[in-house]
Amino acid sequence: MGSARHTVAVIGAGKIGELMLSGLLRSGWPVERLLATARRPARAEELTARYGVRVVDNLTAVDEAAVLAVSVKPQDAATLLDEIGPKVPADKLVISLCAGLPTTFFARRLPEGTPVVRVMTNTPALVDEAMTAISAGAHATGEHLALAEEMFKPLGSTVRVPESQQDAVTALSGSGPAYFYLLVEAMIDAGILLGLPRQVAHELIVQTAIGSAVMLRDSGEHPVKLREAVTSPAGTTISAIRELEKHGVRAALLAALEAARDRARELAAQAD
Ligand SMILES: NC(=O)c1ccc[n+]([C@@H]2O[C@H](COP(=O)([O-])OP(=O)(O)OC[C@H]3O[C@@H](n4cnc5c(N)ncnc54)[C@H](OP(=O)(O)O)[C@@H]3O)[C@@H](O)[C@H]2O)c1
Repeated sequence: MGSARHTVAVIGAGKIGELMLSGLLRSGWPVERLLATARRPARAEELTARYGVRVVDNLTAVDEAAVLAVSVKPQDAATLLDEIGPKVPADKLVISLCAGLPTTFFARRLPEGTPVVRVMTNTPALVDEAMTAISAGAHATGEHLALAEEMFKPLGSTVRVPESQQDAVTALSGSGPAYFYLLVEAMIDAGILLGLPRQVAHELIVQTAIGSAVMLRDSGEHPVKLREAVTSPAGTTISAIRELEKHGVRAALLAALEAARDRARELAAQAD
């Protein structure tokens, strides 16, 4: 399976599938090398109108594409694989974007030897700042992983992880953007409580979030060190941090991410 420009079919092009389609197009993937499938005709029309991509039925996609990127909801995956599984020749690469589903879930429903790569990306793919974690299933080779990386690198960063870590990845970076949005929302509310106009509070916190994120990424410093640089003795920041600790924000995050990991496992069990 050589390098670029295989035909890629996005099977079940909803929110995440669309992110992938638009990212591939932005990275210069030729539109004639992309296919998409959808359940509702209205969704198919929308995708064609928006991207000029050819929307076909699932079996045509299996037939024509070398790479099948499955992006249906985990609970819809078994039905989809009942339909296409027996028809997938074992030389196709299946890339799963489904949260929680192990590659064995696919392997059991695909011809023996079909390579499966499991991918967890996140919504900042929309602005080419995704975090995508990639794992090989039983029959996926280094070449298959490299192909998956080639498809996801233009959307942001990629990392290879053993598949056993993917539920944790789902909890951290898959759902991660939602945690940051919640924090930002709460801090904007705090700004309003302190008497700032909503728009000003919004601007202050969004830029602070961006600045902090860039510092974290570009300085390579540990977050503790960066936090300490803003936390002077008997100052304002430490007063705020005492309240955060008193209200268990750290413990809440540990519990929240564990709950997300457990939910990923539950969804996989239900899908089976
Ligand atoms: N949203 C996130 O932030 C995120 C992040 C990481 C991973 N994921 C994973 O990405 C996957 C998709 O999530 P999503 O949020 O993109 O869901 P979504 O918007 O509901 O997309 C799923 C799409 O699959 C289509 N579909 C379902 N069954 C089909 C079938 N048999 N044949 C063809 N198309 C079919 C649906 O069509 P209809 O619209 O016509 O029903 C829908 O458009 C999930 O497995 C999720 O775990 C999501």
